[in-house]
Amino acid sequence: MNKVGLVGWRGMVGSVLMERMQQENDFDNIEAYFFTTSQTGQLGPDIAGTPKPLLDASDVTALSQMDIIISCQGGDYTKSVYPHLRESGWTGYWIDAASALRMESDSIIVLDPVNNDVIKQGLEQGVKTFVGGNCTVSLMLLALGGLFERDLVEWVSPMTYQAASGAGARNMRELITQMGEINSEVKSLLDDPSSAILEIDKLVAEKIKSDSLPKDQFGVPLAGSLIPWIDVPMGSGQSKEEWKAQVEANKILGSSRSPIPIDGLCVRVGAMRCHSQAMTIKLREDLSVEEIESILATHNEWVRVIPNDRDITAEELTPVKVTGTLDIPVGRIRKLTMGPKYISAFTVGDQLLWGAAEPLRRMLRIIID
Ligand code: HSE
Repeated sequence: MNKVGLVGWRGMVGSVLMERMQQENDFDNIEAYFFTTSQTGQLGPDIAGTPKPLLDASDVTALSQMDIIISCQGGDYTKSVYPHLRESGWTGYWIDAASALRMESDSIIVLDPVNNDVIKQGLEQGVKTFVGGNCTVSLMLLALGGLFERDLVEWVSPMTYQAASGAGARNMRELITQMGEINSEVKSLLDDPSSAILEIDKLVAEKIKSDSLPKDQFGVPLAGSLIPWIDVPMGSGQSKEEWKAQVEANKILGSSRSPIPIDGLCVRVGAMRCHSQAMTIKLREDLSVEEIESILATHNEWVRVIPNDRDITAEELTPVKVTGTLDIPVGRIRKLTMGPKYISAFTVGDQLLWGAAEPLRRMLRIIID
């Protein structure tokens, strides 16, 4: 059995990965070793046979005993360890959730329902480094996979509504704390049906703007507001999150030489762990909505076309509905007034599952099965 080293398994993405690996019995097919950056020697988790002592995640010799390493430890860890490991002559498979190696020429971004052919070809050619994609990119490609597969997309502009989880566990806590504090501020007025809404609104606005609202993580309020900027600026005026859409999607699709333009604005909203995206798509052909729906629905087993109906959309096409599932609903599909080749679509996906952990465990299965 392959020796598989797991790094960063205790963090948020790592924990979701561990859960999914247990659900899918992945541990039955590997010899798992758990690494740590802070608790070397302590007993490892009781999730993969008899617990073994934790190994040192910075020990290149220990890491190089592994056939496969899966890291959810983050980009700084990858940058500090991966080059030394490769320089030491290690030729194992490195599977990473962090973005550090995504755009390297010798790595493949993994999203097998979309780019199984690119992955298989890479494996045949000896590629050993496989990286999970940016969450919004992966979720968009799973939703629109059918259109991309048939080369029907001339360009797409995804406008995102990204959940707090994408910024990290502490950010999720901060969002809920902000919500609670705002509610506390007006609780007695809310309980009184005859209270004036504008008084409530005034107190809420004051609270959101006040220094007392916790905002160490986001820097500004998110509850009752939104943040139309994610990650650092690029010289182009894009945020880094926006820049990733085109470069990563085209790398996943294997179309980097003649890239499909993909660009839009990325916005943080007060959802917990599901990213949503409103997309304007220019198709290469004038297809009927029925044809488009059928192409989308048959691409992979997780995508679900939601009819463009008010009640069904409000029930089915939301972060609340999708959270904790692998479902990729896509709806609001209609022709835009700009012309017959312009369509809209809206999609939602769990940022921690398909957006982070799931492609990694599936890559492991592709290697070992
Ligand atoms: N960068 C994403 C976000 C999460 O901030 O929502 C990880 O892909």
